[in-house]
Amino acid sequence: MQIFKVGGAVRDRLLGIPVTDVDRVVVGATTEEMLAQGFRPVGADFPVFLHPKTGEEYALARTERKSGRGYGGFTFHASPEVTLEEDLIRRDLTINAIAEDDQQNLTDPYHGQRDLEARILRHVSPAFAEDPLRVLRVARFAARYASLGFIVAPETLELMRQLSESGELQALTAERSWKEISRALMEDQPQVFIQVLRDCGALKELMPEVDALFGVPQPEVHHPEIDTGLHTLSVLEQSALHKQPLTVRWACLLHDLGKGLTPEEEWPRHIAHEHTGLNLIKAVNERFKAPKDCQELALLVGKYHTHCHRALELKASTLLELLQSFDVYRRPQRFEEFIGACEMDARGRKGLEQRSYPQADYLRGAAQAAREVAVQPLLEKGFKGPELGEALKRERLKALKAYKDRASA
Ligand code: CTP
Repeated sequence: MQIFKVGGAVRDRLLGIPVTDVDRVVVGATTEEMLAQGFRPVGADFPVFLHPKTGEEYALARTERKSGRGYGGFTFHASPEVTLEEDLIRRDLTINAIAEDDQQNLTDPYHGQRDLEARILRHVSPAFAEDPLRVLRVARFAARYASLGFIVAPETLELMRQLSESGELQALTAERSWKEISRALMEDQPQVFIQVLRDCGALKELMPEVDALFGVPQPEVHHPEIDTGLHTLSVLEQSALHKQPLTVRWACLLHDLGKGLTPEEEWPRHIAHEHTGLNLIKAVNERFKAPKDCQELALLVGKYHTHCHRALELKASTLLELLQSFDVYRRPQRFEEFIGACEMDARGRKGLEQRSYPQADYLRGAAQAAREVAVQPLLEKGFKGPELGEALKRERLKALKAYKDRASA
């Protein structure tokens, strides 16, 4: 049997980027031989094994044929007769289809090195279409390598367009899609992911609610970029520049969905878009089975982002309602993430990226003031149950009034 490194490990070594995962392909071996050498199989049908000591992945060279729609629709054909070239030709991108032996000799039948140098993400062959998830993968690689100058080859974008239009993306499971989306959002340029999905028509299929934001105007005084889609891309870009966590980036992507529903007669104003957007945010959350913390923050940011922008003008009672809605007493981190997302929204506007956002510290101070209200004295006064809750609210309101007075003095 012969063993080669393949995929990301070879690609990233050639790019001079640190390698994290190493995948290997095994040519000329049978499942029985692998098991006899102590490799542990992954799953029942899939010809992938884990090395007994390193735990790294070894896959038997295989050809893949499609027998139906979606992930469950694959049949894998692995046998000792499958050659390295036959295995490589069914991979997604030429830059991922380079094999390397243990002497660092490269096998590169589909010119991956040429495309690495030219900074091109190009599909290897029509077999690309066997797995529609690759549309998302290519967009993710475009986001990851944008800073190195990579772009998607026009013919690959065209193939991605055909795949998108065929309806195949609808067959992807929520889990597989979310894995790509969440990884892409954590790249340095997540906005490129969304842009590439839009360029090939996949955004319309996956997140029509986000796609609908392009072409929708906003008032130029607040939004010099005008277009709501472009604004969303800038907010995402800011979230990556400011190293925000996944929850915040997800909330940034979805915060303005309501603007896609505004009747054209009302443009460029978007009255109550915070509320009209909530059902759309919920739908996208559920479509991809986003983790609970991502779902929650997206909904809260959708509902309250304009509150945050107007924080300095809010009455003490409104401030209190906001803090209560966030349960800032027990969930300080979530409130911090909310503030983070709103700050990205404020900065994701053309020419306003460096603006200051005093609302952030103001709200942090308000949360602190409300948190400092002690429960003990109220217990000592004999308050219990719902009455205690009411008394706490009254004290917190007083504290917030005092905080507002101090802040405006
Ligand atoms: N691959 C593919 N099509 C897929 C998934 C994977 O062709 N839908 C192939 C590619 O050759 C890829 C390799 O399997 O390079 C390993 O896949 P994976 O570990 O998912 O990705 P990497 O390319 O290693 O990239 P990353 O750095 O994102 O892990």
